[in-house]
Amino acid sequence: MKQTGVDQGDAGAPLEPLDLADRGPVIPVVVIDHVEHAVPMARALLEGGVSVIEVTLRTPAALASIEAIARAVPETIVGAGTLRHAADVRSAHAAGARFAVSPGYSSAVVSACRTMALPLLPGVATASEVMRAADDGFRFLKFFPASAAGGPALLRAWASPFADIVFCPTGGIGIDNAPAWLALPNVEVVGGSWLTPADALAARDWPRLTRLAREASALRP
Ligand code: 3PG
Repeated sequence: MKQTGVDQGDAGAPLEPLDLADRGPVIPVVVIDHVEHAVPMARALLEGGVSVIEVTLRTPAALASIEAIARAVPETIVGAGTLRHAADVRSAHAAGARFAVSPGYSSAVVSACRTMALPLLPGVATASEVMRAADDGFRFLKFFPASAAGGPALLRAWASPFADIVFCPTGGIGIDNAPAWLALPNVEVVGGSWLTPADALAARDWPRLTRLAREASALRP
């Protein structure tokens, strides 16, 4: 079993490991425009076997959506994504996010997460960023934007020099290419927006989300 806990390292208070990858092979990355969609969306994904959700802080509805999911769907681990500033971390924490995701590696975000004791999955796209994150104690990193930054070939190349690091590739991944990523020795979970298409949310097509979640869950029998 690869090491998959979201790790804050040794520079601050130790955090509970959060084994997101143990919940399934895909973490949906969600953009929510209407807070009323949040709970039915989380329930639909849960019905399809997906119980970890990253809600991106890209819309005015994001924080209220995190709060609503945390309250109404406690079986689901809801996290906040697209955290770029320390203030984002504080808002996400206050809303009830149980983990944080950043698109890149930021000392301000790392230190705010440490202060809040909020597990962080920080983004990296270069070997130097992997080394910085590893120096700070992280062993589970988001590889973003995964397809554009080098695809599975890049993570395969990193498996030997960074043998102790596990990645969650995100960006450009869908049901068709997810198996190639999940077959890598340093990947156990991938992120992607394909489980929650904007048109399905707009149409409140919750059964479609459940079908997509079921299909994603089956990527790792
Ligand atoms: C994002 O930036 O929204 C995430 O990385 C998801 O990317 P995707 O839409 O390509 O899955």
